Amino acid sequence: MNHNEFLPESLPHNPLPLFNEWFTQARKRNIQPNPDAMTLATVDADGRPSARIVLCKHLVSETGYVVFFTNYNSRKGAALSAHPYAACVFHWDHLHRQVRLEGRIVQSPSAESDTYFSSRAQDSQLGAWASQQSQPLSSRQQLATQLAKIKAEFVKHSTAAAPHIPRPPHWGGFRLWIEHIELWVEGPGRVHDRARWSRTLTERDTFNFDCSDWRSSRLNP
Ligand SMILES: Cc1cc2nc3c(=O)[nH]c(=O)nc-3n(C[C@H](O)[C@H](O)[C@H](O)COP(=O)(O)O)c2cc1C
Repeated sequence: MNHNEFLPESLPHNPLPLFNEWFTQARKRNIQPNPDAMTLATVDADGRPSARIVLCKHLVSETGYVVFFTNYNSRKGAALSAHPYAACVFHWDHLHRQVRLEGRIVQSPSAESDTYFSSRAQDSQLGAWASQQSQPLSSRQQLATQLAKIKAEFVKHSTAAAPHIPRPPHWGGFRLWIEHIELWVEGPGRVHDRARWSRTLTERDTFNFDCSDWRSSRLNP
């Protein structure tokens, strides 16, 4: 991509198709090892921010939310139950693009988390059981021991060659419903192109929001 592919002069009313196009391009072009990696920022019960990378496993561009999976008891899980709001950032260096999302957090329906969990490799499934994510660990050996113990338990209770590993109750998806989105394109001489769209979310049920129309503005770089 060259630097001339700025945002359309007249901003689209709805930014989600363009975000979807960028996300699809980043994944298809295989430009970096984890094009679906995004920085997830949360705020804890004391109002302190923290950030880490997670993988964006779904982008539902029709309504406008992204999904990531994690341990609900982790540090981020605790922060998200104290403050169910988050911000995410994608940076596709080779595409000269950045996307910022801000919005509301809800847990994914269990059936969706089950479906994704069952698609994971067995080692990852066992890891989700064995790892008390974000808790202190005395050594790598302690984790290896926990993992071996969990595996042995599942094997003992199964007649199949490869035991079925159910999803742990403490592990699943979060939906980040997009309330604000900024699309950014790198420009020559740091004259970048930025635009931000906002909408209002109104809670419809446990997992979904009703969304107003978008309002947009181009921003100084
Ligand atoms: C490329 C990459 C992808 C990651 N994907 C995930 C993920 O999808 N879910 C997750 O819980 N942690 C993921 N991690 C690990 C997190 O960055 C983090 O270490 C972990 O979730 C614990 O964060 P917390 O203590 O703030 O809860 C990933 C890390 C990297 C570098």
